[in-house]
Parts: sequence; structure tokens; C-alpha cells
Amino acid sequence: MSEQVDLRASDPQLSGRLVECRDFFDLPELKHLPADRKAQALAEMRRAGTYVQTPEEILIGAKLAWRNHARCVGRKHWRTLKLIDARDATTAEAIAQACFEHLRVATNGGALQSIVTVGPTPLPDGREYRIISPQLIRYAGYRAVDGAVTGDPAHLELTQLATKLGWRGKGTDFDVLPLMISTPDEPIRWFDIPRELVMEVPLEHPNYRWFAGLELKWHAVPAVSNMDLEIGGVRYPCAPFNGWYVNTEVGARNFSDQDRYDMLPAIAKKLRLDMSSDRTLWKDRALVELNRAVIHSFRESGAYMVDHHTVAKQFVDHVDRETEAGRKCPTDWAWVNPPMSSGITPTFHRLYDPPDMDIRPNFVSRGALGCPFS
Ligand code: ARG
Repeated sequence: MSEQVDLRASDPQLSGRLVECRDFFDLPELKHLPADRKAQALAEMRRAGTYVQTPEEILIGAKLAWRNHARCVGRKHWRTLKLIDARDATTAEAIAQACFEHLRVATNGGALQSIVTVGPTPLPDGREYRIISPQLIRYAGYRAVDGAVTGDPAHLELTQLATKLGWRGKGTDFDVLPLMISTPDEPIRWFDIPRELVMEVPLEHPNYRWFAGLELKWHAVPAVSNMDLEIGGVRYPCAPFNGWYVNTEVGARNFSDQDRYDMLPAIAKKLRLDMSSDRTLWKDRALVELNRAVIHSFRESGAYMVDHHTVAKQFVDHVDRETEAGRKCPTDWAWVNPPMSSGITPTFHRLYDPPDMDIRPNFVSRGALGCPFS
């Protein structure tokens, strides 16, 4: 039962936040909180424009944000999320330390754990604490005068920014970029990530010895750091979170996209495939071997990763269980299907609740640069 509360405010943004606050405390997942908590939060919000959430509220909110996020195929595991409460990290240095702690706990020696680190809310005047880097771990990209790119072409701009700030990369294909952090009172600062916190997997193939000679590797932990976490009318712009990789993210996108590492031609050559025409399916065959190498290598290194068949099964399972629980599961079909072999995974053959990006709590994109599908 929801008693009548006056949610009108002269500032339309404030009334929007009041509505979100009310809706949050009305969720069944928060029914166990003290009876006056909602009224108290609403009053504080009305008076101060925001309110202080408890760690429990943030953790529940973050789990629901994950469960609500239409583009995530890994949502079956939403209950396992753990919180690092870093709201007292109000300097770039302190935020960097919290991110390092995040990587340590998330990597967990290869047995990856899903973590969200929640940093400070924006100041009353709107200035905020933000991680500029799209993920905690990203590889630099450098364009030479002849136009050739070394490293990850997706991060040319980010690398230029780091360089402008005084960072110097070695110039290899896999230089880990520094964390770049912006706070209200400091210019953007950068922090090298301690080597021991960056678990990496050298790629080798279970059958082809030459594969290791390509000298490819990838980092074990995908930790997205450029999305806002929105809970109960409160926005956390500094809220890096991680799950674990699906092989296709690395094998069928990062190493295969023509505007990323673009490795299919080199692999097809090594496989001595007939590359004279697209119709020989040389790209498709190289793609499969590359993905086998990714899955095999992560397993060999002890870094947890899921394959696209297994995650698809887990996801449709999750959708069914959500339906049984009487909940909607807004889903973006194009995002939950893998970028290879989608038709032989169960996610392909279904319709879903429409991908409602407006439901809250949620992780919200800050209009990231580049491709809408990465
Ligand atoms: N696709 C991104 C990458 O290749 C990672 C996005 C988040 N992925 C995840 N499995 N949680 O780095």
C-alpha cells in the first residue's frame, strides 16, 4: 500500500527524482526497511535535492540496476554482486586507490567476482567525480605518421588525452592505459595501474602451435567505468562495475572487428585458407579458431570466462525465471545475441520485453564515444 505523498516540486528535475525515490522505496526488495525510511528519504531529497543512501540500499539498488539492464546477457548472476562503498573517496588519488582495490577483489586470482565500486555523488552545484576511462583496464592505441595503428584503435583518442596529460606509453600493442580521473577540484589526473593488478591471458590455440607466435593477449577483467548508476533518484557518476568476459567479446569483436585489432586476415593466412573470395568463408573459419584460442587460453590461465553457448542458455533460463516471478525482463535482442553463431544459441529464437532503458535502478550510458555495440 502506497500512502499519498506530495511529489510536486517547482523544479521539474527535483520532482522527477522524488518520483524515483518513492518508486525505489516501494519496490518489494526494500519492503523490509523501517516504515518511515521512505518518508525520511523524500523529505531529505525535497530539502537538500538529494539524500544519503545506506550501503544496503546502494547494494540492493545496484543489483536491481544490473537485473534491469536490457543490454546485459549475464544477468542471471545479478544476486552475486558485491559492493565497495567508496563514497568517501573525494580526491582523484582516493578514487584511484578504490579502483585498485576493486581490481584486486574482482580478479580474485582468476576466480572473477562481480563488484561495483560506488564513489561520491555530484556536488550540489553539479560538478562531479568521474572516471574518464571507459573501463578500468584498456589498451592504448597509437597512430603512426603513415596512418598505421599500433595497439587498440578504439583508444586512439583516450591515448592522446593520456599523452597530453604527461603519460608515456611504451608503444606496444598492449600498453595498459592509466586510469584517468576527473574531480571537481583538480585537473584530470592519471594513475598507472600496478602491474600485479592487471591479470592478462596470453593467447594460444589448443591445436595450432603457431598461434602463440601472434603474441596476442587480453586482460581478464572487463570493468566498465563510464556509466552512471542511478538508484532511487540518486545518480552515481563514479561507479565502475565488472562481470566476466564472454569469449566473443574478445574473439569476435576486440580481435576481429576491422576497426579494432583486425586479426582475421593474419589468422586465415596462417591457416592457409583460400582468401580469394568471401564465399570461401575464410573469415568465418578464422573467427572460430580465434574464439577457440580465447576460450582455451582463459581456461589454461585460470581466468574465468563463459562461452557464448553457455551464457545464452543461462540468459534464457534467467528470463523464464523472471517471468515466473512475475517480473518484466526488458531486453535488447541485438545486444544479448553473440556476434558469431547467434542462430545456434537460444537467445536468437525468442522475443523479449522491450528494452526499456528508462526503468530504474539502472546503469545509464553517458554517451560513450565510438561503436554503439561495444
Ligand atoms: N565488450 C567489452 C570489452 O570487450 C566489455 C563489456 C562488459 N562485458 C562484460 N562481460 N561484463 O571489453
